[in-house]
Amino acid sequence: MTTRTRILVIFGTRPEAIKLFPVIAALKADPRFECVTCVSAQHRDMLDQVLSIAGIVPDHDLDLMRPGQTLDGLTAALLTGLGGVMDAVKPDRVMVQGDTATAMAGALAAYYRKLPVDHVEAGLRSGNIHHPWPEEVNRKIIGSLASLHFAPTETAAGALLRENVDPARVHVTGNTVIDALHWVTDRIAEQPLLVAGLGELEARFAGKRVIGVTSHRRENFGGGLEAIARAVARIAQRPDVAVIFPVHPNPNVRAVMDAALAGLPNVALIAPLDYPHFARLLGLAEIMLTDSGGVQEEAPALGKPVLVMRETTERPEGVAAGTARLVGTDEGRIVTEIFTLLDDKAAYEAMARAHNPFGDGQASARIVEHVANEAGQ
Ligand code: UD1
Ligand code: UDP
Repeated sequence: MTTRTRILVIFGTRPEAIKLFPVIAALKADPRFECVTCVSAQHRDMLDQVLSIAGIVPDHDLDLMRPGQTLDGLTAALLTGLGGVMDAVKPDRVMVQGDTATAMAGALAAYYRKLPVDHVEAGLRSGNIHHPWPEEVNRKIIGSLASLHFAPTETAAGALLRENVDPARVHVTGNTVIDALHWVTDRIAEQPLLVAGLGELEARFAGKRVIGVTSHRRENFGGGLEAIARAVARIAQRPDVAVIFPVHPNPNVRAVMDAALAGLPNVALIAPLDYPHFARLLGLAEIMLTDSGGVQEEAPALGKPVLVMRETTERPEGVAAGTARLVGTDEGRIVTEIFTLLDDKAAYEAMARAHNPFGDGQASARIVEHVANEAGQ
């Protein structure tokens, strides 16, 4: 009898948890694997929101988040902390997702121990190491040492092949975010009370056209975030509009948004929503305005036009499909683009088509099968 493959799944932030919980569920249900989970807790409250809804109790929790943490301080703590867990767990393989500091340090610590690394959401490239920063470089580091590369799309796979990654090691699986979105949509259908927390805001803004906003990118700190805040304030002057804005708790974000937007009648600045409530917001919103990676993938799947407050994107599929548009962080441009969608029905209809370039909801099952084959199971 073959022994089970011990796989250590490492994650630390909200988006990694959302995109890995379906994979963890599939690994745990599969007798070929012993799945051990380790959270760095680079995020704390936002990570715990996902752990709670997904029913995951991590086997190891490094509890690393510090208020206003720096990239170098965080990375140093991650490398030694995650390396220590690997020495204790002695896994056969390590899995990381995406491009955070946790994913990069987890992959590097595994490489230092000559452990094979499985990279979920591989091959995203903007071609600009400063946008998004530092994620573009984190992904390139992980891509240079991964054993298996799970590309969400053909475009992502193509980027890896152009970097001379062995084609036999690249698998197009779809993005696990779509698996997560299907799962949460089904949970809400079974249990509508899961999203009751938005009821008060829904009543307050009844009859208004909802715009959902999120913003947290480090490269936008300072002037970029201030411009975004001014644009949102101008948009919210329209009496027919309501802005629902779950604010990222990073002090660099919170302070700017509070200063510009707190108390405006058509703006709800709220704490980060748990995943079911955020899915509800995606459903309510007429338009999403965001600099998030994950929201760029979810909004097209739900047929919601998404305006992306970035200069460039590593997720060109939504733009190519016409459901996403890059609008940068210029105040005037953001206002104009939102008003066009609000006032020009044809422009809106052209963007509001459900489009799923990012997957069919079966990515996790494919990933588990590829890992099992690679591990000789
Ligand atoms: C991190 C990732 C980014 C990802 C984003 C998702 C890196 C370098 N950045 O950025 O790729 O897109 O997460 O949200 O890995 N904080 C809290 N509570 C939380 C989480 C954060 O208070 O639950 C505050 C803390 O003050 C913390 C700060 O936010 O120091 C920044 O967190 P950090 O994980 O370093 O960076 P993010 O900007 O969240
Ligand atoms: N999200 C959430 N609550 C919120 C805002 C976002 O659950 O208040 C989810 C969203 O659905 C997506 C993910 O968090 O799946 C995106 O995370 P974030 O924008 O923090 O990171 P990024 O995707 O940019 O790395």
